[in-house]
Amino acid sequence: MESVRTQVAIIGAGPAGLLLGHLLELEGVDTVIVETRSLDYVQQRVRAGVIEYGIANFLEASGVGTRMRAEGLVHHGIEFRLDGASHRIALSDLYDGRAITVYGQQEIVKDLIAARLTSGAPLFFDATVTAVVGHTTERPTVSVRTSDGDREISGDYVIGCDGSHGVASASVPTGVLRRYERVYPFSWLGILAEAPPAADELIYCRHPQGFALYSMRSPTLSRLYLGVRPDEMLDAWSDERIWDELTTRLASDRSASITQGPIIERGITPMRSVVVAPMRYGRLVLAGDAAHIVPPTGAKGMNLALADVRLLAPALVASLREGDDRLLDSYSDQCLRRVWRAEEFSTYMTQMLHPHPSDEFENGVQTARLRQVIESEDTARALARNYVNLSSL
Ligand code: FAD
Ligand code: PHB
Repeated sequence: MESVRTQVAIIGAGPAGLLLGHLLELEGVDTVIVETRSLDYVQQRVRAGVIEYGIANFLEASGVGTRMRAEGLVHHGIEFRLDGASHRIALSDLYDGRAITVYGQQEIVKDLIAARLTSGAPLFFDATVTAVVGHTTERPTVSVRTSDGDREISGDYVIGCDGSHGVASASVPTGVLRRYERVYPFSWLGILAEAPPAADELIYCRHPQGFALYSMRSPTLSRLYLGVRPDEMLDAWSDERIWDELTTRLASDRSASITQGPIIERGITPMRSVVVAPMRYGRLVLAGDAAHIVPPTGAKGMNLALADVRLLAPALVASLREGDDRLLDSYSDQCLRRVWRAEEFSTYMTQMLHPHPSDEFENGVQTARLRQVIESEDTARALARNYVNLSSL
């Protein structure tokens, strides 16, 4: 890797950075993507699984949805489980036949990397951006550290797609960006298990012992989560304890008990909300988790990240090709409207499904909220629209 000049320097090869690189390449814009992790690590990192209706269509229309359409699981409903009773929300019946696709984030990442490698456009792994300078000049520049030494990449624009702990937003002078944050009093313990899913649809479960979520990745892989205390250590959770707790929380009047199998991945994720505003400083623009985090209960994080770059790509093209900055000037406001809406929905889902260990008033309100979704078609319809397609509404 040499010091280079490009049109758009992209920090981070997650869903946001990779899709932006792909969309700009389709428009003939030169980009360089720099990723601190290795190719293997990025392709194996297990995270999101639910793709919204409009985002799935967009991936397909952009030429990177073939495998998602072939292998992704189309789901027309989800289940809520309350006090052991199952309640199905018929998403597609409530929302014009529209459905979600269950397809792992790392599969989208693999598809986008494959497209990039085929095109030969520059994509560097094991290369860490250590600084961004010149945000308000014509030539913003990033410093990159690799095992071969340090390099510089300058561009017309630098895009921070570097996730929640990225260097891009931290490089902006103090006082320019505002950060709004909320930390929730629990984390999610997530596992990936070689076990055929025992259910056809996702199950969000509110149990007195805590939240549980049944999801899947394929006909042979289950993805399950437990709500746990925020300071919980992974070491305290043996396989047996994980399965016991999942079995207890997910017990139901309707279905057979969950299927178990070897756990091939596990992790604990703290739950928080973050919004950084504005999502731009001069010629540095932020997209995805670099600008906003949502608690995963609404399944919105990756969808928001992809929706950001769906807007950003044409804005950059108009600026670079015609010197027309109008789309770029409205980018942050447009994204933030959607981001706050997703924060609202994710907070709503989170607070409805995570019982409080001691506040019985809070628990009464939560249960009433969930009963309203189960019993009121209007409330279920509003939930269905947000769950299935918030990022394109
Ligand atoms: P990231 O995927 O974080 O990518 C950022 C990239 O930048 C990384 O590869 C990182 O290594 C790289 N990077 C960071 N710093 C540097 C640097 N200095 N130099 C170079 N590279 C750098 N979302 C959903 O939509 N649906 C779901 O069902 C869902 N479930 C989730 C479940 C869990 C348990 C978790 C943790 C998240 C979930 N999410 C979900 C959220 C989703 O995974 C994220 O929102 C998504 O990864 C955001 O993509 P991104 O490209 O913005 O950031
Ligand atoms: C997942 O399958 O990983 C998943 C599904 C739904 C969520 C969060 C994560 O709300």
